[in-house]
Amino acid sequence: MTDDELWILSFYRTSEISGALFFGRLAKSLRPSEIQHDLSKHFADEAQHAWYWTSCIARLGAEPLRLQEAYQDQYFVTAGMPANLMEVLAITQIFERRVINQYALHSRVPGLQAEIKETLDRIMVDEKWHIEWVRAALKRMEPEYGESTIDATVRRFWEADQEVYRKTMLEHEARVQSVMRAREGQG
Ligand SMILES: [Fe+2]
Ligand SMILES: [Fe+2]
Repeated sequence: MTDDELWILSFYRTSEISGALFFGRLAKSLRPSEIQHDLSKHFADEAQHAWYWTSCIARLGAEPLRLQEAYQDQYFVTAGMPANLMEVLAITQIFERRVINQYALHSRVPGLQAEIKETLDRIMVDEKWHIEWVRAALKRMEPEYGESTIDATVRRFWEADQEVYRKTMLEHEARVQSVMRAREGQG
């Protein structure tokens, strides 16, 4: 595994841990509801994903790098803290889309190690469900918050995502490109 590959897998691991902690805290604070139910499964999934990456890195003979910031930390800096549960779900929907796109891109790298490919494929199944349940929950919130308010909120976080991606993901992107070039060279 190259330094860039180890950095990327460590970044995924850190990001999954941050997701698990964030959703776990939220699941703890909610009263019984369909959202509490689905969010509990969601945070359990993210905790599993952190473990899958930890295990994947170990199987590739390395140790995770300790990275300070997760991608989602930047969201709150750029878009502000979500003010209510609807805003949390809106930001979650945008974030989960970013994650699945990133994992899908990575899974198409030619000559990817079997350990990484398996981990990406396994996680993407769960990430698809994350997007689905959040979309359904936002739909059910329309009578309370109004469809246009929800759409505007999703839009606001989508713009923040673009901004965060530009600012902080340049490094990530450069590393992914370098991994792709290296793998293509080998294959
Ligand atoms: Fe995840
Ligand atoms: Fe997720």
